[in-house]
Amino acid sequence: MTAFVRVCGLGELEEDTPKRVELDGTPLSIVQTEGEVFAIHDICSHANVSLSEGEVDDCHIECWLHGSRFDLRSGKPDALPATRPVPVYPVKIEGDDVLVSLTQES
Ligand code: FES
Repeated sequence: MTAFVRVCGLGELEEDTPKRVELDGTPLSIVQTEGEVFAIHDICSHANVSLSEGEVDDCHIECWLHGSRFDLRSGKPDALPATRPVPVYPVKIEGDDVLVSLTQES
């Protein structure tokens, strides 16, 4: 059975503004956008850069260093230089709590 763990409150999230959290030592970027909440690993697959410092647009998060954009649903980059996906994780909302399971989605 997959364990979902609370990472933050829904009220702590601002639309299109990533929030960096840690779950069991794994850095995550939590993003509320387009009526959904997503959890994506916070480190770019191209270099050791925090994705939560980048911008969110059209359900993608952009790495601020070289501009690769990762799909928040799949973790896949849509532009070079990154070629490998970043892990994304299942999210559950319970009341005002945002819960994430570290079981990798893709
Ligand atoms: S470090 Fe993210 S695209 Fe290069």
